[in-house]
Amino acid sequence: MQGNKIRNLISITDLSVDEIEGLIETANDIEKNPEKYQDACAHKQLATLFFEPSTRTRLSFESAMLSLGGQVLGFSSANSSSASKGESVSDTVRTVGNYADIIAMRHPKEGAPVIAAQRTVVPIINAGDGGHFHPTQTLTDLLTISRKKGRLSDMTIGLCGDLKFGRTVHSLIEATLRYKNIKYVLISPDELRLPDYMTDKLNEAGADYEEITSLEEAMPKLDILYMTRVQRERFFNEEDYVRLKDTYILTPEKLRNAKKDLVIMHPLPRVNEISVRVDDDERACYFYQTLCGKHIRMALILFLLGIKVKEA
Ligand code: NCD
Repeated sequence: MQGNKIRNLISITDLSVDEIEGLIETANDIEKNPEKYQDACAHKQLATLFFEPSTRTRLSFESAMLSLGGQVLGFSSANSSSASKGESVSDTVRTVGNYADIIAMRHPKEGAPVIAAQRTVVPIINAGDGGHFHPTQTLTDLLTISRKKGRLSDMTIGLCGDLKFGRTVHSLIEATLRYKNIKYVLISPDELRLPDYMTDKLNEAGADYEEITSLEEAMPKLDILYMTRVQRERFFNEEDYVRLKDTYILTPEKLRNAKKDLVIMHPLPRVNEISVRVDDDERACYFYQTLCGKHIRMALILFLLGIKVKEA
């Protein structure tokens, strides 16, 4: 363990740029030499505490731990845990900290993982807290960009859709603000613009960004297009959701003016915002992203548990 100090991952800035670089290197080595890592977490247990639904994040964490030779336990909805009886997050986490060596947790309330980290001595990974942050999706996104582009600096990133509630967008901006020469094109309807606490961060960093409503107008400039789903579960009323949900639908026609080496990303799940007709475009990287998610989560588990894998 790093100086016996427990490391958590609550926000992506809990990791330095060098540490992220190290995770990317490990993830790339895992892809090339999976057998080297297959027993690295033997006798270790990962708990996945998911108070909100998930397919990719929970299963990729579990698959990551199993591929490291470790074991997994947990629950996949608040209903199947004692949260449904009124138990607090603090008490749940304090209990699970006695069973598992590391905890990945998703919760609908912003800040819940911070409370969790105060209640246990095992590392806590924020697997998404409300409309706030989602740092392991960002690690996934950074690995995808690094593998596809060979760099994490010098590019124009278009973020499109629900920039207000989209936690993956918030964490990706926080992360990329630390790289050189990144331009942001923020594409959303007025009601789903980036929240003030995020534009404040862009302004403080002196970032180059524009906020626009037209995806077509943005398209030719982009090196990365990051599409997002309108976050239905965070809306106060269904009418607003229905009015806004199909604002952006990416189609092959809309990609006509795009760069030849554009990287099209989406954290998934997709609803309507990318036509399935785009899936066969070689620039569509959203299913490749899910593979990157497994590799980087393997690297993260090793890092937080302080496990070094010896050269074969
Ligand atoms: C995202 C999430 O949960 O925030 N999904 C994911 O983890 N891959 C995006 C979303 O739900 O829209």
